[in-house]
Amino acid sequence: MTILHWIFFAIYLSSVRAQTCPLKCQCYLNQTTDCSSKRIFIIPPKTFQSYSNLLVLRLEDNRLSSLDSDVFSPLINLKRLDLDQNILTSLPGSVFNSLRDLVVLYLNGNSLTTLPSKIFKNLENLSIIWLHDNRIETLPSDVFEPLINLKTLSLRNNKIKNLDYNWFKNLSNLEFLALAGNQIPNIPRNTFAGLGNLKNLSLNGNQLTSIQDQTFSYTPKLEFLWLYDNKIEEIGDNTLYGVSFLRSISLHNNKIKKISSRAFCSLTNLEQLYLDGNMLVTLDATLLLSQRRLRMLELQDNKLNTISPDLLTPLISLRTFNISGNPLICDCKLWESWLWWNAHFLDPEAKCFNPETKILGNARDQLVNLTCTIEQYNNQVVTASQALITAAPLKDKIEKTCDAKQLAAGCIVLLVIIVVMMVGFFVYIKFYRVPKSSHEMLVPLDA
Ligand SMILES: *[C@@H]1O[C@H](CO)[C@@H](O)[C@H](O)[C@H]1NC(C)=O
Ligand SMILES: *[C@@H]1O[C@H](CO)[C@@H](O)[C@H](O)[C@H]1NC(C)=O
Ligand SMILES: *[C@@H]1O[C@H](CO)[C@@H](O)[C@H](O)[C@H]1NC(C)=O
Ligand SMILES: *[C@@H]1O[C@H](CO)[C@@H](O)[C@H](O)[C@H]1NC(C)=O
Ligand SMILES: *[C@@H]1O[C@H](CO)[C@@H](O)[C@H](O)[C@H]1NC(C)=O
Ligand SMILES: *[C@@H]1O[C@H](CO)[C@@H](O)[C@H](O)[C@H]1NC(C)=O
Repeated sequence: MTILHWIFFAIYLSSVRAQTCPLKCQCYLNQTTDCSSKRIFIIPPKTFQSYSNLLVLRLEDNRLSSLDSDVFSPLINLKRLDLDQNILTSLPGSVFNSLRDLVVLYLNGNSLTTLPSKIFKNLENLSIIWLHDNRIETLPSDVFEPLINLKTLSLRNNKIKNLDYNWFKNLSNLEFLALAGNQIPNIPRNTFAGLGNLKNLSLNGNQLTSIQDQTFSYTPKLEFLWLYDNKIEEIGDNTLYGVSFLRSISLHNNKIKKISSRAFCSLTNLEQLYLDGNMLVTLDATLLLSQRRLRMLELQDNKLNTISPDLLTPLISLRTFNISGNPLICDCKLWESWLWWNAHFLDPEAKCFNPETKILGNARDQLVNLTCTIEQYNNQVVTASQALITAAPLKDKIEKTCDAKQLAAGCIVLLVIIVVMMVGFFVYIKFYRVPKSSHEMLVPLDA
């Protein structure tokens, strides 16, 4: 009864619509109309008929459950449309067809389960679409195809299970893609083909158990990759192939047992590495050899028994380091690492497993009285306290590189090129240059 009452009321008001501003809305001189948070549940079809100069229309936080397919058609100059925080379950296929200048579209916080095919067909200038916090399970293959200028696409917190590579194949300008909080169990290898400018990709909070080799090789400009809160078990040599500009990768709260020694080799720009909350027992001592820029290393809450000093010495930029919650064994190997992080003013909150008491205790208490022989001190026998006071910090071993093999191959190729060029030059001098100089000699001297 009340709903009907409201409908009639709305129709009545729209027929006597004020010249200046639609019902319940506020209109500003800057061509913004704000109808947000007004409990509006219906927009009568001709509401915006005389608003063709509108640039911004805000309808967020209302009770809209459906839209008339022509309701926005007069708004040919609109740049931004806020429809978020309503209860829309579907959209008419042609509802945005006239909004050729639209740059920003907010549809997040509704109850959409899918979108009609070609719904964005004229929106060539669209740069931002927020579709997060809906109930999207699937989308038509061609839905984003016309959006060649799209920079931001958020599909976070939906119910997507299967990724379709057709969704993204035309989005060559996309920089930010959020797919976090869906139900994605795997990523088909070519999913991101076409996203050559992507910088920030979130896939955290899905059901991923593995990542295929070279999945990210189509997104060479990626800087931020979010993979935490999944069930990933392994990081292989080529899992992260082709993303050498990556600055931050979060792999925490997965089930990672194994990381190949060369997994991070090509990531020479990495600043943040989150590996905490996994099932790592050991880390290869050469794993971080190319991490000269790494500032943050989170390894807490794994099952690590030791941290090799060779793992740490390449990390000349490290500022934040956490290994708490690992059952470390306080022997002379860890002692050496302990000297390293003390010398670098780091406190990773190391805890050592005491086999007698079966509890984790402060590493310092157990390490400080150890007597060890270490190379760094010319194989002298020293105690930790002596080493801390008398000795210089462990030297950073930065001469090694993880791409030694590639470097060697590169050198050979370079050598071959130089030899070929020299031979070529010789042939040129010998067979082509000579006739030319004899020709020069024919020029009369007094010319
Ligand atoms: C337009 O003006 C209103 C009120 O002054 C302001 O809140 C709003 O941010 C402005 N919008 C734009 C796009 O400048
Ligand atoms: C896109 O924006 C540019 C510049 O703002 C404008 O010249 C062009 O007409 C717009 N394209 C469309 C399809 O409206
Ligand atoms: C896909 O992108 C290409 C190149 O940017 C463009 O020419 C083509 O029209 C786009 N496809 C559609 C359906 O808009
Ligand atoms: C990348 O995206 C995440 C959310 O998915 C956001 O928290 C983060 O600030 C973004 N980073 C940059 C540099 O844009
Ligand atoms: C290290 O990790 C532990 C466990 O997650 C956490 O409680 C602690 O605050 C962290 N330390 C620092 C300095 O962040
Ligand atoms: C380490 O040595 C000091 C001084 O010799 C002693 O007081 C302390 O109890 C020792 N700590 C451990 C854990 O044995």
